[in-house]
Order: sequence, then C-alpha cells, then structure tokens
Amino acid sequence: MIKTVKVAVIGAGFMGSMHASIFASDPRAELVAVVDRDTTRGQALAESIGKGVRVYASHEELLAAETLDLVSICTPDHLHLEPALAIAAKGVNLFIEKPIASTLEDGRRIVEACKAADVKLGVGYLLRFDPRYYKARELIEAGKIGKPIHLYARRNSARTEGPKRYAGTLPLAMHVTVHDVDMVLWMLKGQVPVTAYAQQTDILLGEMGTQDTIAGVVRFSGGTVVTFESAWSLPAGARHMIDARLELIGTEGSFEVQCGDSGLYFADNQSSQEIDTQHWPEIGGKVGGDLRQQLSSVLDWVNGVECQVATGEEALLSLELTQALVKSAETGEVQRL
Ligand SMILES: NC(=O)c1ccc[n+]([C@@H]2O[C@H](COP(=O)([O-])OP(=O)(O)OC[C@H]3O[C@@H](n4cnc5c(N)ncnc54)[C@H](O)[C@@H]3O)[C@@H](O)[C@H]2O)c1
Repeated sequence: MIKTVKVAVIGAGFMGSMHASIFASDPRAELVAVVDRDTTRGQALAESIGKGVRVYASHEELLAAETLDLVSICTPDHLHLEPALAIAAKGVNLFIEKPIASTLEDGRRIVEACKAADVKLGVGYLLRFDPRYYKARELIEAGKIGKPIHLYARRNSARTEGPKRYAGTLPLAMHVTVHDVDMVLWMLKGQVPVTAYAQQTDILLGEMGTQDTIAGVVRFSGGTVVTFESAWSLPAGARHMIDARLELIGTEGSFEVQCGDSGLYFADNQSSQEIDTQHWPEIGGKVGGDLRQQLSSVLDWVNGVECQVATGEEALLSLELTQALVKSAETGEVQRL
C-alpha cells in the first residue's frame, strides 16, 4: 500500500526552499521539518509553508525528535557527508542534491553507509526528469540511433547567476558540467570513459575565484567521443538564461535536445528576460518543472515504484569523470580513467 512519506529537508537555502515547497504541496508527502544551522532562515521557510512544519538547527536534533521515511539534503556540497551518514545510520532513506559530495572519498562513504543500513539513496540529477532529455535517451534505448559516434553537451549561463552564488566553492565543472556528465553516462550505459582532456579559462571570473568556461573531450570504451562545453560567463543581457543543448550523431540516426530557449521571452521598455519554464517555474503558487517531477518520482520510489533517479553509484561515476575533467584543465594533462 502506498503510504504518506514523512520527509524533512536539511538546508533551507536556494534548493532546500524549493524542495520543502514541493514536498509540502504533494499529497503523497508530509513535510515534517526543515533544518538549517541558521535557524532564522529555517524559521522563515517553515513560516512561509505553514502546516505546522517544525524547525531544527541540526540533523542531530531532527533525528532525535522525528520519525522519518525520507530526508533531502540541500546543504552546500562539502557538507553533505555528516548528515548523510547520520541519516543512513538511523535507517532513513536519503535524497541528496548533486553532486553527491565534494570529494570521491566522501561520496564513497555515503554510498557505503546507505548500503550497510539498507536504505535508498538518490542524487539530484534533475535533467533525467526533463521530458526532452528523457525522450532522447529513449531513442538510444530503442535502437534508433544505432551506435553513438559523437555527443556534444553545452550548458552556458549568465555571469549574473552561477558565479554570484557559487564562486569560491567548487569549480564551475562541479556545479554545471556535472549535470551533462551524468546525462551522457546515463545515455552511454554499457560504455565507460577511458580518457578525459579539458581546458578552462578565468579571464573574466578569475578574480572571483572561479572559471569562465571549461571545454572537455572524453573518449569512451566503445569509441564514442563526447565534447562538453560549460560556461557561466555569458553577459547579463544575453538572450538565453541557460543556453543548453545536447546533440548526438549515431550510425543510424541523430538527435538534438534544444534547451537554449525556454519558450517564454519577455521584454519591456527597459529590459528583456527569458523566463524559466524548465527547472523550477512557479505555477499556481507551487514550484513546478523537472525539479517537481523528480521529487514526486522520489516519493513514489520510496514507496517501491521504480524511477530513473540517479543512484549513489551512478553519482560516484559522474563525480569521478567531472573531477578528471577538472584535473586535466588544471594540469594540461590527459587523464586516464
Ligand atoms: N540540481 C540543481 O540544479 C542544483 C542547483 C543549485 C544547487 N544545487 C545543489 O544544492 C545544494 C545546496 O545548494 P544551495 O544553492 O541551495 O545552497 P545555499 O547556500 O543556498 O543553502 C544551503 C543552506 O544549508 C545551510 N547549512 C549549511 N550547513 C548546514 C548544516 N550542517 N546543517 C544544516 N544546515 C546547514 C546553510 O545555512 C544554507 O541555508 C548543493 O549541493 C548544490 O550544489 C543543485
């Protein structure tokens, strides 16, 4: 029988606020609590949601007070490990925002802890829930592409967004390219990456402690070559909010996933703006888009329904390949995997 999933969200920042809002408005979930070490922030989020959502200052307090089915971890990347280990040890299922952790060692410890405790572990690669990417992968699965020869994955966004929030934390590739890396690995299941080479620049954003662009080339075991291009240096007035696309050429067919255009472009006498219709648009006062699709599927998944959420093991593979691209860009050397 499908039961209501009792869920808590740790980290009441940018992503955590949206996770909390989605769970609170899904009839399959009961949002029990939000946790933030900044209790003012946690309190503000709980109040905006209402419904008696409780607030805690730490995962220890949460776990001591509540009985839960699922915890969503939305703390900064280097702070996923501690709450994840404690939650798994308590026998509670986990969903962690991408990347699984900031280091492979932390990521492996999380995967091992979830295995040892026999709890589910999902990682937030939301492109898997974008119908365009999902349907593109189906073309490969259905054999319509034949053997994949070459993929090109682009994700370029404005300097006013990503760097403002994440400069000085992990490299650009770990915030941006990692999404495409997960998607490519998911699409090329059966092949493994063999070599990775990348170059990056920091002409514009170096002073802020981050990179403008990274461009990488990865060769896979079946011979497929993949080109990655990620930037968060587009000018503020750029037409595209996120200029993302994925192209594949195969022996029997090709496809293009075009996400450069959200389909909604607004201009007035002062400025112009593309409006998000893909990731987390607010619709009828509720967060929608592929983030909602993903978290809704995760609620069913906790209840035993299969879904395409990235597993811990898959998240380790995307972290490993992204790190190899970063290392290559930093050293100038080809990385062998
Ligand atoms: N899926 C996506 O497209 C996507 C997009 C952006 C960010 N992210 C990921 O989401 C995660 C969160 O990023 P964000 O932008 O929301 O960060 P944020 O800085 O906006 O929020 C993080 C919150 O965690 C709180 N916090 C920090 N340490 C804590 C702890 N030990 N216990 C409780 N609370 C703690 C902070 O006070 C803050 O409120 C990161 O892993 C990030 O990479 C994913």
